[in-house]
Amino acid sequence: MRWRRAVLAVFTFLFSACSKPAVDASGRTVVRFLAGPDVGGGQKAIIARFEALNPGLKVEMVEGPAASNTREDMYAAAFIGKESTYDVLYMDVVWLPKFAAQGWLRPLDDRFPPQRQAEFLPGDILGSKFAGKTYRLPVQSDGGLLYYRKDLLAAADLAPPRTWAELAAAAKAVQKPPETWGLVFQGKQYEGLVCVYLELLWGNGGELIDEAGTVLVDSPAAVEALTWLVDAVRKDGFAPEGVLTFQEEEARHMFQEGKAVFMRNWPYAWNLLQAEGSPVKGKVGILPMVHGPGKASAATLGGWGWGISAFSEHPEAAWKFIEFAASLEGQKTAYVKGGIIPTRKALFEDPEIAAKSPHYRELLGVLAGARPRPMHPAWARMSDILQVRLSGALSGQASPEDALRAAAEDMRAALAR
Ligand code: GLC
Repeated sequence: MRWRRAVLAVFTFLFSACSKPAVDASGRTVVRFLAGPDVGGGQKAIIARFEALNPGLKVEMVEGPAASNTREDMYAAAFIGKESTYDVLYMDVVWLPKFAAQGWLRPLDDRFPPQRQAEFLPGDILGSKFAGKTYRLPVQSDGGLLYYRKDLLAAADLAPPRTWAELAAAAKAVQKPPETWGLVFQGKQYEGLVCVYLELLWGNGGELIDEAGTVLVDSPAAVEALTWLVDAVRKDGFAPEGVLTFQEEEARHMFQEGKAVFMRNWPYAWNLLQAEGSPVKGKVGILPMVHGPGKASAATLGGWGWGISAFSEHPEAAWKFIEFAASLEGQKTAYVKGGIIPTRKALFEDPEIAAKSPHYRELLGVLAGARPRPMHPAWARMSDILQVRLSGALSGQASPEDALRAAAEDMRAALAR
């Protein structure tokens, strides 16, 4: 893992080494956060509007690497040193238990009481709490989906697939590699690959870990799930080997260019696929992720929200900004620009959103059934282990069975510590 620490050190240097001034040249209080690339420009639009409404405040967004787990490490590196580099956090739902347990987040219960929480979707509120306290304002609901090309399936007289076997058959029948491939997904060694795998595992009746904390990722159901994914790339040839380098945006670009029949991704991709000038505009449908024989579909619950650093010197200004970003106006901007799924119930009734997103009814069904990754302070460690082993199997270095046996052993050792 030495190289990963080296990569992190470089990122940390590039993105946060510069110390943050308390005020900018015009005397405005500076609030800083780290986020991923601002696809669609939603965050920039929110910041511009907030600054116009609050002349004494300046918000600085550091656009960091796309992988959620890399940004998690960067925040952690700053907080371990109790640095005030970041005032607010744009947080993945899976970081919260660790960050809260470490004392890196300010509880928000006084400012965000139950009556205000009731305006949000219940799953997103659940993901905002740890040990009875609330630590984030949720702004993005997320759950894994299968996108498909309605036109290509109809032309081949094929029904939308429900099972692994149906997807494999349709992908093979319709694809024309190397121009068009059957399936693209997030296959790079990072958090996104774990999300993809969990959908296959849960969708085959398997479990990663049970309620008593027993690790079950070496079960036959788990091996079958990984075998299906590995075979898609290495044996059945309906996913290109390039998926081993794909995060969300690489998969989305390939699908949007019309080079894939199916894509596993998150709901944000919808507005971008349907945008003016998109080659697949009007040709795309969504489905729950396909499942194993005789089982039921599963979606991994994702989601993002705002927290305030325990080390911020400007918690008041930080609150003002996150309150605006999570407001109806802030969330609608994020939806219009970046296709971000809101967390405020009222926005699902918004006429403009309903007209632009007729698929929201199906989507809400997927989100309602989405399953969280274990809400455990050691999730980052568990996920790291899975990332390494899943990636080893996808690249052909280990059989799915050996990879998962090793993952289970490592996870048991990590949890016993
Ligand atoms: C999405 C999800 C997030 C997940 C990430 C993985 O952003 O919202 O929860 O960890 O994808 O790439």
